[in-house]
Amino acid sequence: MSVDQKVTVAHLSDLHIVGKNDRRQLDRLDRMLDEIVRKGYDHLVMTGDLIDTASPDDWLVVRDALSKHGLFELGRTTVLPGNHDLIHLEEELRFYHALNPDDSGRKRRVTERLQKFCTVFRPLITDDGDADAGFPLVKVLRFGEIKLAFVAISSVLPWSGSDNPLGARGYASPGALRALVASPVVDALAGSFVIGLCHHAYRVYGTDALVDQAFDWTMQFKNREEFIGAMKILRARLVMHGHFHRFQAYQADGLNFINGGSFRYGPERYGEVSIGSDGTWEHQFLTLQ
Ligand SMILES: [Fe+2]
Ligand SMILES: [Fe+2]
Repeated sequence: MSVDQKVTVAHLSDLHIVGKNDRRQLDRLDRMLDEIVRKGYDHLVMTGDLIDTASPDDWLVVRDALSKHGLFELGRTTVLPGNHDLIHLEEELRFYHALNPDDSGRKRRVTERLQKFCTVFRPLITDDGDADAGFPLVKVLRFGEIKLAFVAISSVLPWSGSDNPLGARGYASPGALRALVASPVVDALAGSFVIGLCHHAYRVYGTDALVDQAFDWTMQFKNREEFIGAMKILRARLVMHGHFHRFQAYQADGLNFINGGSFRYGPERYGEVSIGSDGTWEHQFLTLQ
């Protein structure tokens, strides 16, 4: 083993692909994935809002783009869902107006779409033919001497007229967090460089301006402290997310966060994390040449 061995991870978020006719965006994605392959990244992470439409057929377009570049493999790519993958806002409003507000229906629609997401992206979630594919997801990859682990949750909170009117608030389910901090997971992660993954942003804006506070509420990660608590128990070195379309790296609550911004609105930019065998790491945003 060379002492300067490094593992590199490319990070994209919020692609918001609008189906197979979204040519401009798909051409840009081709270009980006070409670059990621050309530069030899060990792994690619996409932190949600892969599509804009919550229409399962559109995930196939993303899957095909990854396949075309040889990236549709467990060891090459990790994806997780965002609110635009799982919540169709117009559909929710239609149900809301047509029926009495029905909490079970909203939850069921998110659960069903999540199951479809896990079916489409199954090869990126598990390579065990018998296992259930779902979230939370723990993936441990070995690159020479470096063990890299991803711990991903679905942070999509079902739509609610009063509590989640834009479908954009995030939530980590207590069951998912309990499963993650159980001792088999903690043991499995021992000796790994752990990266936490979710879609929703720890920090949204962060100014005291009233207009920002109003905006904060609709996009807020409701129980972010509980999520951070679990990440700390798992000794996550950093958390990568998206949702709030701004490329930024910041520290909060004793953890390092990387917001992958939005590929839709910044299709030339992507994040790179480089991890050394001594556990040191660096992050930078790069621009396509
Ligand atoms: Fe987004
Ligand atoms: Fe989002």
